[in-house]
Amino acid sequence: MHHFQYRNGRLYCEDVPVEHIAQEAGTPCYIYSHATLHHHFTVFDGAFSQLPHLTCYSVKANSNLAILKLFGSLGGGVDIVSGGELFRARQAGIPPDRIVYSGVGKTREEIDYALSEDILMFNIESSQELEAISQRAVALGRRARIALRVNPDVDPKTHPYITTGMEKNKFGVAMDEALESYRRAAELPSVDVVGVDCHIGSQLTEVQPFVDALRRLRALIDRLAELGLETRYLDLGGGLGITYDREQPPHPTEYARAIVRELQGLNCTVIFEPGRVIVGNAGILLTRVLYTKKTPKKQFVIVDAGMNDLIRPSLYGSYHHIQPVVSEDRPTETVDVVGPICESGDFLARERALPQVQPGEYLAVMSAGAYGFTMASNYNSRPKAAEVLVHGDTFHVIRLRETWEDLVRAERIPEFLQ
Ligand code: LLP
Repeated sequence: MHHFQYRNGRLYCEDVPVEHIAQEAGTPCYIYSHATLHHHFTVFDGAFSQLPHLTCYSVKANSNLAILKLFGSLGGGVDIVSGGELFRARQAGIPPDRIVYSGVGKTREEIDYALSEDILMFNIESSQELEAISQRAVALGRRARIALRVNPDVDPKTHPYITTGMEKNKFGVAMDEALESYRRAAELPSVDVVGVDCHIGSQLTEVQPFVDALRRLRALIDRLAELGLETRYLDLGGGLGITYDREQPPHPTEYARAIVRELQGLNCTVIFEPGRVIVGNAGILLTRVLYTKKTPKKQFVIVDAGMNDLIRPSLYGSYHHIQPVVSEDRPTETVDVVGPICESGDFLARERALPQVQPGEYLAVMSAGAYGFTMASNYNSRPKAAEVLVHGDTFHVIRLRETWEDLVRAERIPEFLQ
């Protein structure tokens, strides 16, 4: 369910025609629907209302402060993977006791920052990291609450780049080694073992891999109890998929039913780290057609958004639905929708049937709310797009379009070259 619909042949976000936004904010531009974000968060969070739980939205999916602020105001926490994400979360007012910190490469500076903020829990990904966190906690006179991210070795059946819970992946601690690592953690100074964590991958379209992982984690939790280690938090990560094209992922309530069934008799707070399922279909990338071009082999639609704005099609071969902002009867043609970047890999769609479009008109690239802006770059010295949040019949620029000045602001020409 999302709030991007046509009314009288014009695409609206909630009660605002997206053309109005294009005229004010320019293109390319990300547009998010507040009502959709709100709805997705409350549906997901509400699906677990019968469990003690915390929904820690995964900041990497969309890290705009306004969006973090919204989820915080709805009682959400966040899952972070860097000092920068912690900084954002704190700027947005997310309380530290609702912040969990994952990632295989936490630096000393980042660990110190998280310890000084007294976050809820570190999700530890290796034995060296465990030792490092203990050392820093001792040095700073803090205590580190930790969970081990275990790698349950289940196949989430998604794109290999976004699979994380298989033995060949770099994430987490292998199941076989987990007990030993927990024993070690329990001995370490300034460390409180409080949980068990896993995250098996992203854009999952079936419940079964989640259930398989959870069963393995439960077995581990039982073993930990035998060692006298109580699991206060069970973090199940994120990963629930969305519909980009024809996928039929389980609805959050279906996912919740399966999880709740598996959790019978377990006495702990369950943490979820959803990203895409909350923001993915709550955002679009609005772009303008610059030119159309026919070559002997192909028909191209050249637009003002490129792989630097939305890299998912180039990087994963991902599908994003593309539709004209003005819907009218016109013939269809098969085109490649490409950006202005000087690479043949710069495309938003390939061999796509699209209504015949004209230079100057706007196209909406759908389902771009997750891993869109957050993966954007300045490649080809292209300023990053503006981000806009629609709220009913008003819209708000929540990130200014970058300027050419912004591009060079941090650069310095050394004296010997002046
Ligand atoms: N928790 C952890 C530890 C994660 O690594 C991730 C995503 C999440 C939660 C959130 O997963 P979600 O609910 O959004 O599936 N750039 C890729 C997706 C990479 C996901 C990385 N980890 C894409 O555009 O498809």
